[in-house]
Amino acid sequence: MTDFLTLLQHRRSIRKYQNRPVEQEKIDKILQAALMSPAGKRLNPWEFVVVQNHDTLCQMASCRTYGSQLLENSPLGIVVCANTEISDTWQFDCAITAMNMMLETADLGLGSCWVQIYNRKTEENISAELTVKKLLALPEHLTPVCVVSIGYINEERRPYDFQKLPYDKIHREKY
Ligand SMILES: Cc1cc2nc3c(=O)[nH]c(=O)nc-3n(C[C@H](O)[C@H](O)[C@H](O)COP(=O)(O)O)c2cc1C
Repeated sequence: MTDFLTLLQHRRSIRKYQNRPVEQEKIDKILQAALMSPAGKRLNPWEFVVVQNHDTLCQMASCRTYGSQLLENSPLGIVVCANTEISDTWQFDCAITAMNMMLETADLGLGSCWVQIYNRKTEENISAELTVKKLLALPEHLTPVCVVSIGYINEERRPYDFQKLPYDKIHREKY
């Protein structure tokens, strides 16, 4: 069993995946990790859409000009959606639940990458949120925040080097 800091050290964004589906029991664990996320006032403003359909993933991949293309070769994307009407901490809550999924994914030996949807558009000014919203038939009150793409790792990423962490970000007692 890997200790938690080592897991964090080795988790890197993975954008290339093997052509191999993710087993249902692994998807279930990743979703359980999502559902155990803390949220402001325990309002749980998130909803998840599990996408494995290749055409849908390809259409989501083109919702932005840059940064979302990796979804084309991803076997799985979990779309984190927010009910922005019931909570004023939905952005934080959604980030936490996406991170929980990415950590569980790493613990399962799989790779993942956050693909931002909220506040993103194509070069032609078409909103990524609207594209994904229509594609997934989301109800009006839900906003797609990000897609966590997940799959078996097909690229080498170096783990973080403890010697090279930006320790200058840390201030003690006062800035
Ligand atoms: C809020 C947020 C948005 C991100 N959006 C994207 C994205 O749209 N496309 C992408 O390929 N990576 C995206 N990433 C991944 C970052 O580029 C990545 O986490 C960062 O470069 C650090 O690398 P690491 O994850 O390997 O540690 C995003 C990460 C976060 C936290």
